[in-house]
Amino acid sequence: MRTSIQQVLERFPNAKLSITPTPIYKLPRLSSHLGSNIYIMREDLTGFAIGGNKNRKLDYLIGDAVFKNANALITTNASSFSRNAAAAGKVFGLEVHVVLAGNESEQNKNSQALFHQFATILHYAPKKPPEAITAEYDRVIDDLHSRKKIVHELHPGGSDSIGSLGYINAFDQIIQYSRNTGVHFNKIIHATGSTATQVGLLLGQCIGEYDTTIIGMAASQKTNIQNERIRQLALATAQILEIQFDDSKIVVDDRFIGPGYAIQSEDGENATSMFALLEGVLLDSFYTGKAAAGLIYYALHGLLGENDNVLFIHTGGNSGLFY
Ligand SMILES: Cc1ncc(COP(=O)(O)O)c(C=O)c1O
Repeated sequence: MRTSIQQVLERFPNAKLSITPTPIYKLPRLSSHLGSNIYIMREDLTGFAIGGNKNRKLDYLIGDAVFKNANALITTNASSFSRNAAAAGKVFGLEVHVVLAGNESEQNKNSQALFHQFATILHYAPKKPPEAITAEYDRVIDDLHSRKKIVHELHPGGSDSIGSLGYINAFDQIIQYSRNTGVHFNKIIHATGSTATQVGLLLGQCIGEYDTTIIGMAASQKTNIQNERIRQLALATAQILEIQFDDSKIVVDDRFIGPGYAIQSEDGENATSMFALLEGVLLDSFYTGKAAAGLIYYALHGLLGENDNVLFIHTGGNSGLFY
């Protein structure tokens, strides 16, 4: 039987890069240690390239690019999104360009190795001022246009309305899991950054009428800023889907960022050890480890009870494990 989510999504082209459904299962030792029923959704195992939450976004972003007959793709940053985007563009026969801040010798070697593996065409711009990146980005686009290329631009992190569709689709998997097992999740916890993951989950919850609280553990921004970014993207996405969105559902917790974005936090490292030692699950330091720190804090401070069914979404970050 098709669900309401599938009906809403069916008109959007899907490149089907992600290997889904991803595993959802109970973490037995962590659950008894924390006194709640803790489940995990292994979005780190979406398969394509280095896995992670970016593939769900790319399912729709690349689907859209191919549908529009694009033959060149451009994005910025040395991020897990741009590396998976590079792989995705390549397998669909697009020429992939990524503009990076800093010269070649300043780049992370592992990141560069992945870009090279996917035959990405890299461009370098001075780190400062910020306009230098934009200028190089525009220059590359002009050059592609002069070669009569049909250029598709990808928002950094894949967080636009099309990218958000991926996590609406992921929410359908959560609904199916609940239907099949009778386990209803009353809390869903994950890391939030460029926002499309949380936006998609919130809209999926809304379309599927699933009663839960989705808590985004912020990786970089203060709660009020992140709330507003989520609200704006959710409203824009709701508009193209022609649905209503209730922004009172947005919940962001910024208490686990630690010293700052992309800097390890003590709580995050302790949480990472707990997941590794009790469950053999590897988390990264910048996103999933900090989200797990939030989950553990909630359990230890009475914000989760023994009857709660909590779903922790492991959003990936695998490439960061070996940096
Ligand atoms: C491992 C990981 N988890 C979570 C996120 C946050 O997802 P979003 O950018 O969709 O908010 C990111 C973003 O880069 C990430 O790399």
